[in-house]
Amino acid sequence: MNDSLRIGLAGLGTVGTGVLDELADHGGLIADRCGRTVKVTAVSARTRSKDRGGHDLTGFQWFDDPAEMAQSDGIDVLVELIGGDEGPARACVEAALKAGKHVVTANKALLARHGVALAKLAEGAGVALNYEAAVAGAIPVIKTLRENLAGNAVTRVFGILNGTCNFILTKMENEGRDFADVLKEAQDLGYAEADPTFDIGGFDTAHKLVILTSLAFGTEVSLEDIFIEGIEDITLADIRNASSMGYKFKLLGVANRTEDGIEQRVHPALVRAGSPIADVGDAFNAVVVEGDFSSTLFLEGRGAGGHPTASSVVADICDIARGSRVPVFGLPADKLKPFRRAAMRAHAGGYYVALDMLDRPGELAGVAKAFADEGVSIESVIQRGPAMSRSKVGADIAPFVLITHDTLESAMRAALDKIEAQGHVASRPRMVRIERL
Ligand code: HSE
Repeated sequence: MNDSLRIGLAGLGTVGTGVLDELADHGGLIADRCGRTVKVTAVSARTRSKDRGGHDLTGFQWFDDPAEMAQSDGIDVLVELIGGDEGPARACVEAALKAGKHVVTANKALLARHGVALAKLAEGAGVALNYEAAVAGAIPVIKTLRENLAGNAVTRVFGILNGTCNFILTKMENEGRDFADVLKEAQDLGYAEADPTFDIGGFDTAHKLVILTSLAFGTEVSLEDIFIEGIEDITLADIRNASSMGYKFKLLGVANRTEDGIEQRVHPALVRAGSPIADVGDAFNAVVVEGDFSSTLFLEGRGAGGHPTASSVVADICDIARGSRVPVFGLPADKLKPFRRAAMRAHAGGYYVALDMLDRPGELAGVAKAFADEGVSIESVIQRGPAMSRSKVGADIAPFVLITHDTLESAMRAALDKIEAQGHVASRPRMVRIERL
């Protein structure tokens, strides 16, 4: 145990150089805390000549192929920071596990797609597969679920798992700016993924949520069994309407156990202003875990960025240096239960509905009847002037916004289909779920 732990670092982007920074700044501290030194011995990246935040790479063995590095005798741990669910990232992680090397990765997409197979490989080889940095950057949510809550039955886990979306929604609300304008700023600040549709379409959140679901409920990771809606259709008018009714918009990832199975969903949601999750602003992330013995835990912090993400990568390396190894998803892989999906139509909750109603006698009565016929009860209503319309139409439109009491999603969809089919509205009704916290 006193020998140095030798790291092969695959990927030298923002997070990779963040790991080099942290090991350089805190090498002595880490050695004291782990009882041995941790040193990078090999690196691999797409281009060799690029500047890496001033780090001198000449002391490290260079590999063009990360999979070759993963099997080399010169490393004990592969740290995979390449990203992507296939290609070199998957190849080097699999090669490392097959060669009996520990793996630390920040790759949410890889785990979301191949988590169970990789867990089996790691268990078969008797090595660690650690991935704290894959979900919510610096927030220690993997350790919390995998270790600290090991004696709890978790009932719900949810959170704000994408900094880009939270930044966009916060700026729209606080500064009254349009979606496209704020997205551009998020890209300029480096929060967004290379393809921002991963962020705003909810896919990045989905990758992170399926990992949390598996840890929370002891089920196989299942990206096929998730409901995903992004934030791309949320308008400034929606945000102002919600605000005037005491709510804020957040893109949430939610996993909860119901009698019909597990709900695993990503969508914009209204949360009560003043609740802890509503106050999580800008590019911050937050995760809430409800355990039967622990009660509610609320974790908040930086979900992206070089140093916050490196902090979690280095913590995973320290666990390996100390000789700690826990089952990848908290249970031996063959004990993970098949995922049983609860249908979204069976979801019960409150809803925000925005309607661009035609401003003619009898339209409101038609809308009220459609809701009543489906057993949907209205909690509150506001009518706006044409300036708050969701569609760019003239003064013959009466924007109408309402909040429902808890109801079944199937009833909501049926009522809104009817309202549209009967021609009461000028555009498709907008329906957003309310998350009770
Ligand atoms: N694009 C991600 C975000 C980065 O905005 O949260 C971390 O996964």
